Amino acid sequence: MLHPRSLLLFITVCFLCLATSLQAKEYDYDPDNGEEINEICSGCHGEFGQGGKDGEYPRIAAQPIEFIMNQLRLFRDRKRKNFAMVEYIDERQMPENDMYDIARYLSEIKLKTRMSIVDENAPDFDAYARLLESKMTMQIPKAPGNIERGKKIYNKECDSCHGKEGLGDHKKAVPMLSGQYTNYLWKQVKQLRTLERIHDEDSPKEELLNEFSDEDLTDIFAYLSIVDD
Ligand code: HEC
Ligand code: HEC
Repeated sequence: MLHPRSLLLFITVCFLCLATSLQAKEYDYDPDNGEEINEICSGCHGEFGQGGKDGEYPRIAAQPIEFIMNQLRLFRDRKRKNFAMVEYIDERQMPENDMYDIARYLSEIKLKTRMSIVDENAPDFDAYARLLESKMTMQIPKAPGNIERGKKIYNKECDSCHGKEGLGDHKKAVPMLSGQYTNYLWKQVKQLRTLERIHDEDSPKEELLNEFSDEDLTDIFAYLSIVDD
């Protein structure tokens, strides 16, 4: 029989362990730090995380916090290749709480899908405001393919994880697909199909996208390119 005092000690230790393990997952959000770190990221991903060069640099704004953190960890641990970024995210330069700050900062940036209608000749036309608005507006050009067919396949095979209309799933760390450059999605398909990237942690050896033809994916991406219009 355990002495009551040992029992109390045991319970206290358990409680402390639990408390620290829970605490390890929660950081105090520091938006100023997020904004400062974004000055590094913006060199490639744009001031508002809108990406650039037709998807050579992906859009990272409004992605789920956990998805962004997961990718930064994968890059840092060399489990996902990214020569461009790796020097910026080595552990020494980016501890976990910095990752949280930048991930949350980016995930809270909302990009519009359509520019407002203004008269550029009006006397109160503000060219700078217009430029800012254009940077915060992300309209993916319509990709070729059969939209109706793509929608059907998407709804049957992808939306359980990637969410309705491809907006991603913040609770499950699944990225948005609509609002992402089509070129970038294709590049990722290649990496996923060859298992350079793991699509689903629960079945890392069976790549779902290998069950779909290029035509299927072309149609899915055609649908995703217009769904948020
Ligand atoms: C020197 C250019 C460069 C800089 C600086 C940079 N990135 Fe990247 N980043 C890239 C490239 C290129 C890719 C795409 C890699 C690929 O094609 O697989 C990428 C991919 C990503 C992805 C994966 C997106 C997805 O949907 O798969 C995330 C998240 C990301 N970057 C976040 C950041 C953050 C946060 C910072 C700042 C700390 C940053 N990047 C700085 C070039 C850069
Ligand atoms: C079981 C859930 C699940 C299903 C079903 C699923 N995905 Fe994914 N997908 C994910 C997760 C999780 C990621 C992020 C992987 C990571 O963290 O690297 C992802 C990433 C991707 C990416 C890379 C995006 C980026 O920004 O890096 C593409 C492209 C993609 N999925 C396409 C599809 C398509 C097309 C379908 C339907 C045919 C599909 N997925 C079905 C969970 C899923």
